Amino acid sequence: MNQVHAVITGVGAYVPQYRLSNDELSNMVETSDEWIVKRIGIKERRVLKPEEGCGVSYLAVKAIEDLQQKHPFDPAEIEVVVFATSTPDYSLPSSAALTAAQTGMTNAFCFDMEAACSGFIYALDVANGFIASGKYKKVIVLAGDVLSTVTDYTDRNTCPIFADGCGCVLLEVTEEEVGFVDSILCSDGSSPENLHLYGGGSANPATHETVDQRLHYIWQDGKVVFKRAVSSMVDTCEQIVKRNNLTVEQIDWVVPHQANMRIIDAVVNYLGVPPEKAMINIEKYGNTSAGTIPICLWEWESKLKKGDNILLTAFGAGFTWGATYIKWGY
Ligand code: UT7
Repeated sequence: MNQVHAVITGVGAYVPQYRLSNDELSNMVETSDEWIVKRIGIKERRVLKPEEGCGVSYLAVKAIEDLQQKHPFDPAEIEVVVFATSTPDYSLPSSAALTAAQTGMTNAFCFDMEAACSGFIYALDVANGFIASGKYKKVIVLAGDVLSTVTDYTDRNTCPIFADGCGCVLLEVTEEEVGFVDSILCSDGSSPENLHLYGGGSANPATHETVDQRLHYIWQDGKVVFKRAVSSMVDTCEQIVKRNNLTVEQIDWVVPHQANMRIIDAVVNYLGVPPEKAMINIEKYGNTSAGTIPICLWEWESKLKKGDNILLTAFGAGFTWGATYIKWGY
């Protein structure tokens, strides 16, 4: 462990109020509650309706307010805000800056970063780097998405999976034997055809044609993504476990990205970790992309103890994936 490194000192989150049930989805595409529960493990997911609010910064502000309530901090002391999201409010300005302005984090420099479903573990590494450099002491990591805005509700291969939600953590400097320990992060951009949202960027700027071609929605080859997700998460977790001389018994919690219950089961089984040590809430929140891991930490916060060994792992578009080992700090 570095002498100076980051430790999570608080977690916050927010999920929108509207619950989109499998039965409601069954009225949009040819599917059923039974199929979705059996093949994906999701019973309902939250969706941000315009009546409630707009943009991922709406969720982020609520998540910061939740963090503030449980772990009061002076927002003026935050030096960096990193926001992992694939669905920013706008291409510019950043959702990090919008969120900071609305929550009093006026002295921070702020930026968004995109690593799809692996966004939280990527951002955690980046934030730890800022703190380990010795230059910064308080960093906020936000991670979340409003995937309902890029989900094709006529495509049954994707629409049951995706959801909206946002989590955040406060990271502070420590020299104690808790906090960020190690991570392995990977990317492979050689096969974007398997999981993509091709419209609206500089390659396919928005036109009537890109809208007609439904290019502004996520598309995936589910089977390819499924296999890569399992093997990649298992591989990086095993590497982290090995190089930190951890035994399975020493792992207190595994926090897998929540994309499909069968992916989670496979990863946990391969690692040999008892299922009760895995944080799983996919049944009620679905896949909130970058949001899934901090939303799990937020839900399990009261069960965590100082020094707990926690393994985070994710896989997403890019492809991006990895595993991160942290020791809980409070
Ligand atoms: O976080 C981002 C990364 N994304 C992921 O990790 C997603 C990974 N992939 C998956 O979760 C799964 O591949 C899916 C949930 C997308 C699909 O599940 P699957 O078990 O791999 O289904 P499949 O694509 O092999 O399709 C099996 C059958 C097909 O019917 P036929 O051809 O056998 O008659 C599909 O048309 O299931 C059908 N199907 C559905 N049936 C009812 C596919 N989607 C649905 C649906 N409802 N929603």
